[in-house]
Amino acid sequence: MQIITDVKEMREIVEGIKQSGQSIGFVPTMGYLHFGHLALITAARKQNNMVAASIFVNPAQFGPEEDFERYPRDVEADSIKAKSAGVDLLFCPKIEDIYGAGYATYVETEGLSEQLCGKSRPGHFRGVCTVVLKLFNIVQPKRAYFGQKDAQQFIILKRMTLDLNLDIEMICLPIVREADGLAMSSRNIYLTEQERRKATVLNCSLNEAKQLYDAGERNAQALLEVVEKKLLKVKEGRLDYAELVDLTHLLPITKIDKPALLALAMYFGQTRLIDNVILQ
Ligand code: PAJ
Repeated sequence: MQIITDVKEMREIVEGIKQSGQSIGFVPTMGYLHFGHLALITAARKQNNMVAASIFVNPAQFGPEEDFERYPRDVEADSIKAKSAGVDLLFCPKIEDIYGAGYATYVETEGLSEQLCGKSRPGHFRGVCTVVLKLFNIVQPKRAYFGQKDAQQFIILKRMTLDLNLDIEMICLPIVREADGLAMSSRNIYLTEQERRKATVLNCSLNEAKQLYDAGERNAQALLEVVEKKLLKVKEGRLDYAELVDLTHLLPITKIDKPALLALAMYFGQTRLIDNVILQ
């Protein structure tokens, strides 16, 4: 596995790979890798000649009051994990090479980026789209891999690739969970022991809704009531949102007659956790 920090060097390596007719599968991350990230790498390994992953804690997607400075970082441990999962190229660009002096260009996916997490994190998806487009331009992958954990992110990035005529196959893989059901996240490290225990309520409430859905419930309000009742009981947490939306526009629906996204965001202390299930 090669670790590349220089954009120019990365471009030269990519050029060589493409000239030899090989495909690149790409997994963009912000590092502090866990099994959710590694599942994406494993899938990329199976479907491509070469696997590139990036580690870049992207300042443009953090709000001024958010955790950019203290976001967990451990490039050494990440390198070992990435290598053993089958990464060929680990791209860790420097901030100044991604956002140089005078930087002024951003990608906005209108509408979609204002729903769900966009309401409490204004500008977040603008930062995500911008950095992912920049990474795509450098890495030039044939396929890119994302997790359903960030379902809104995937839907927005897929929209971006369509709208900007990018020739990249966008692949979304299921949420990887801890043994007790909590969705894996680099941010779980922030949780106190008690918060960590209580955070399983996210997955529990989604499971309950899924069971009702499977039993035939199609009324969005009925499903949301069950979820909210469970979440609001947890005094260690503060609900940001629980919404049932369609998968194209991410707009609230009243009745489920095609696949729908049940998405949650909840604060435990300062830590904001998200989770979701697709009802279909
Ligand atoms: P990060 O949070 O590091 O996540 C990188 C990728 O791993 C994303 O596609 C995310 O959905 C996926 N992922 C995270 N936790 C997962 C889990 N428990 N199961 C399955 N997949 C999981 O998402 C980002 O970074 C950034 O916004 C990025 C796209 C890299 C742009 O900066």
